[in-house]
Amino acid sequence: MSSGVEGDVAKMELGDEQLVTPWNVVANSNTGIDYDKLIVQFGSQKIGTELIDRFEKLTGRKAHHFIRRGIFFSHREFEKILDRYEQKKPFYLYTGRGPSSDALHVGHLIPFIFTKWLQEVFNVPLVIQLTDDEKFLWKDLTVEKTLAMAKENIKDIIACGFDPDKTFIFSDFQFLGQCPEFYRNVARIQRQVTFNQVKGIFGFGGSDCIGKIAFPAIQAAPALSNSFPFIFGEQKDVACLIPCGIDQDPFFRMTRDVAPKLGHPKPCLLHSVFFPALQGIQTKMSASDPNSSIFLTDTDKQIKSKVNKYAFSGGGATVEEHKEKGGNCDVDVSFQYLRFFLEDDDALEKIRKDYTSGELLTGYLKKDLIELLQKMVKTHQTARATVTDEVIAKFTSPRSLKF
Ligand code: TRP
Repeated sequence: MSSGVEGDVAKMELGDEQLVTPWNVVANSNTGIDYDKLIVQFGSQKIGTELIDRFEKLTGRKAHHFIRRGIFFSHREFEKILDRYEQKKPFYLYTGRGPSSDALHVGHLIPFIFTKWLQEVFNVPLVIQLTDDEKFLWKDLTVEKTLAMAKENIKDIIACGFDPDKTFIFSDFQFLGQCPEFYRNVARIQRQVTFNQVKGIFGFGGSDCIGKIAFPAIQAAPALSNSFPFIFGEQKDVACLIPCGIDQDPFFRMTRDVAPKLGHPKPCLLHSVFFPALQGIQTKMSASDPNSSIFLTDTDKQIKSKVNKYAFSGGGATVEEHKEKGGNCDVDVSFQYLRFFLEDDDALEKIRKDYTSGELLTGYLKKDLIELLQKMVKTHQTARATVTDEVIAKFTSPRSLKF
């Protein structure tokens, strides 16, 4: 690559069929995003059985169903994290969210459910970045509004059950002014990346505001351990593992290019697929279209009517046709949601078999899904109700973490 950054293809079109950038995900074919193709284009690695076996042997834990089912499907140098775990060398987790709505939808929970599990398995510190500045720069929102959304989103994140002794959550607008060491790393990163490079990686053009062009350094900085002196002191060699949606990879390709130049290890990554919209697997859920998503604030009734009305069916057009030809689990959104959230492998496999053979009708699949989502959302709402200002203050105050 001319810019020297691993794979300058964040903004790319694959045979005009799919477009994946941090700000836009579109698949035009009706089979959805081609993830194998994306791995090739991005230059990442597939999470294979060998890696999963090694993980299970080292940690003594069965791999999470997100890994077993290919929901976290790609990585960059995850084996290096396993090496460190084996050698008892320190590392930490880093993930984040761009607060673009007050309410999260169930798809937004994927990285957080998974990161919480990783934190438990590895027993390591975790930092969570809310990029309110990013949403301010990209959307038609005021600073005040993005700050307020970050605070609401933080409650939802805390409700996922992170360990307060090992988790630091921050919003950029709050934290950058509090931590000179963080900003110094932002500037160090900015000096290493040219405009031509970010143009290549992110597709920025001459009419993009300069805030956008400078922003990637702010998402990169949390991957350098000395950005958090209250956790890691001046240590530069604490490795970083980032679970994220594959659309965020461009930020971290850039980070992996810069980190060694600044004397830090390259961050390692675990990538997830996108969570499909109710309307079909061609696009991901969007918080801006209320009918494309199940929100964590939805009532039982709303969940029921949205799934029944909008969840795209892979079943036959008529009962007769369905019984004869069977359903297509690959495109059936209800089945796909069960794949994400039904933890019981045997139950899921039975549904897959019976739906594929035509024995099980879409209505039954939807009924199972509705019950599961209602339970999940209720559990979340109960947990969220306990997140007081005091609890938020604990998670967001810069402090040392136990590990
Ligand atoms: N840019 C991400 C978003 O819009 C938010 C984010 C910041 C993030 N840091 C991250 C996501 C690290 C994953 C990992 O959602």
